[in-house]
Amino acid sequence: MRKLLTVVGARPQFVKAAMVSHAITKASDLDEVLIHTGQHYDYGMSQAFFDQLDIPQPRVNLGISGGSHAQMTARMMASLEETMLGEAPDAVLLYGDTNSTLAAALVAAKLHIPVVHVEAGARTRSLTNPEEVNRICADHISSLLLTCTEANLRNLALENLAERAAFAGDPMYDAFSCYSARAQRPALVELGDGSSVDVPEAFYYLTCHREENTVEEKSLQGILEAMQSLDAPVVYPVHPRSKAAVMAFVARGDFDNILPVEPVGYLESIWLVTHARQVVTDSGGLQREAFFAAVKCTTVLNFEVWPETMVAGRNILAKPNKDSILEAMGVEQVVDEAYQPFGNARAANNIVDHIVEFLEVR
Ligand code: UD1
Repeated sequence: MRKLLTVVGARPQFVKAAMVSHAITKASDLDEVLIHTGQHYDYGMSQAFFDQLDIPQPRVNLGISGGSHAQMTARMMASLEETMLGEAPDAVLLYGDTNSTLAAALVAAKLHIPVVHVEAGARTRSLTNPEEVNRICADHISSLLLTCTEANLRNLALENLAERAAFAGDPMYDAFSCYSARAQRPALVELGDGSSVDVPEAFYYLTCHREENTVEEKSLQGILEAMQSLDAPVVYPVHPRSKAAVMAFVARGDFDNILPVEPVGYLESIWLVTHARQVVTDSGGLQREAFFAAVKCTTVLNFEVWPETMVAGRNILAKPNKDSILEAMGVEQVVDEAYQPFGNARAANNIVDHIVEFLEVR
């Protein structure tokens, strides 16, 4: 029996880890120990995902969150070193591009524990994006790099990492395919007064939380102005990092077309995606989910995270201002059902097969 130590900490990682954990449970020769760094800790940002997606409870929650990037990463590293020394795993399994990913990759590499990085090879080519720093560093010190798309594999080849890399498909596509049938109309809870509110008959779905869009007041204002001018209400589950800023805008009373609500669970989020007129987001995960659901998406960022989705008007980049967002939203998409760059919804099984093979030859 080989021991895998999986480190998760932030919302998007829970969804990917759920699919892979289920596949690991079926593989008789792998034992998984799950560690939660604590980066996301509100019920709606963390435990709700464990409950909905049947993710095994973490052996430890390190309870580390907040602070600057350096503070958070350093505290996670010190704590993860103790955990990894105690558990002595055969490999460490990591997802995506968060500070939890970077901290765990650095610690494992220095303890000579091989790192398996899922969602490897995504590149925005913008070092001002904190997640780009995390993903480049994690990729370069990982021993097995598993990508969501063939384009991501080519990115790794350009950085001389091809020998350690393989295409596996996107576990978020697995999750979407698996859970779509169980998607649930959300019981929305209004931000601020906590009252419950019905999902409007027709609506747009907005998420916006990136540092790039929420630190500068002007950017968030531009995005909200665009949403205010739409012809149907905008459902906006607000990430805790943006809560204070959003509430300040809403309090002015100029944004009554926007419905700011508490974060929703995964099953509710994919319900919103599939029923929305359009999606507007700065999330790497939500733009892929809009693509899976064939719902038109506008991504408010300065760089492409998933260029595979940016075809035939299906996902268009916009700047954080009203004109740019409305222009992108006005482009009609053309959907080619046969075009599926994210694999065949068997990524989790592929990931487990690659890990088993990798550990066998070591
Ligand atoms: C992180 C990831 C990002 C991912 C996002 C998904 C990094 C660098 N970024 O960004 O890649 O897209 O998660 O959500 O790791 N907070 C709460 N309650 C929570 C979680 C966070 O109040 O449950 C607060 C934190 O204390 C902090 C702020 O929100 O003040 C931002 O959280 P942080 O984990 O630093 O980054 P995210 O913006 O969530």
